[in-house]
Amino acid sequence: MSSIADVFRPVADPQVIENAFTPDQHDRMLNVVRENGPWSLILAQHFKSPEEVVATTSGSVPEGFTPTWDMFLSPVFRGYFAQAHTMLHPELEDCFFNKKFLDLVRGYWNAPYATPENMLFNIQGPCSGGGSPHVDATRFRGISYQSTPVWLMNTMVKSGLFKHWQARKAQVITWYYKGKVGGGFNYWPEGPHNQPKQIHAPMWGRAVVVENEMMFHTAESCGPAAMRRPEGLAINSLMEADPQVEGGWRITTDGKVIQQIPEEEFRFLVHWGADIYKDFSELKRALDHTDDITNEQAIDMLIADLRQRGETFEVPTDPLTDKAFIGLLTRVYDPGQPAVFPPEPVELAA
Ligand SMILES: [Fe+2]
Repeated sequence: MSSIADVFRPVADPQVIENAFTPDQHDRMLNVVRENGPWSLILAQHFKSPEEVVATTSGSVPEGFTPTWDMFLSPVFRGYFAQAHTMLHPELEDCFFNKKFLDLVRGYWNAPYATPENMLFNIQGPCSGGGSPHVDATRFRGISYQSTPVWLMNTMVKSGLFKHWQARKAQVITWYYKGKVGGGFNYWPEGPHNQPKQIHAPMWGRAVVVENEMMFHTAESCGPAAMRRPEGLAINSLMEADPQVEGGWRITTDGKVIQQIPEEEFRFLVHWGADIYKDFSELKRALDHTDDITNEQAIDMLIADLRQRGETFEVPTDPLTDKAFIGLLTRVYDPGQPAVFPPEPVELAA
């Protein structure tokens, strides 16, 4: 059993709460999503190549095999309510600068300081979920998604070499889903090689307090199986409110509607993320940038570690995009995928 997998345990057991947002807050968040589309695929926003997806989802690629987008396409779309500690939609400020959520994550970490950092949403219709357990991208002092590809940050986590710089984070993830098939949340709080747990749908304002950078998790499959992979889905597909159907949604590819999603099959996830500081000197170190790490330092440390492990390889001229180098890191720091899954949701015949 790989010792790399032992890295992946959250700081505390996930904590489930109900009525995370008020009905009025939910209405306002949903309005922003309906009025500001269309929204692109999560996959399209975070990765430049299918190899990067492999590096992040921690599988390894057999020699001579080239992964394609088609292997990973999943009709889940994303947008941001807040980024870099800043609310992008002032009508949702109370949802972001949220006293209740701050108390929850301070309690979760048993830490005195927390700051809201980002707030995003995933929207989707029917989708299969079981195949893509992952950990969320994290950040290190000096390294963030603005400066560094997601795959590198995740490799840094998996290597266990960069704990000193790793941001302490916590999230409150809230779901609104009334569908009749699946739609819950699967997670592996004891590490990817141990038993999973499940938060069950249907749910309306049910939430979990978590550290998703350090815990494998994935959405449970949801909706009618026949609708989970719409014909014509591509890396540039978009999702938006359906102007022809009250409460409905639709997915388009190159301007052509490839799927209409009725309101009852719509799954809305709101992710609220905070930075946590264990004491004031840690807060100062982060804000004053007196102990940052750079991409170059991170790559150098990984190269040194690879050599120490006896790997032979050529140092690439551009390690941030070199596919062979990314492939090597993926293989060496592979924590393995979860082996045990909760049973797939049962679809009752109509
Ligand atoms: Fe995630």
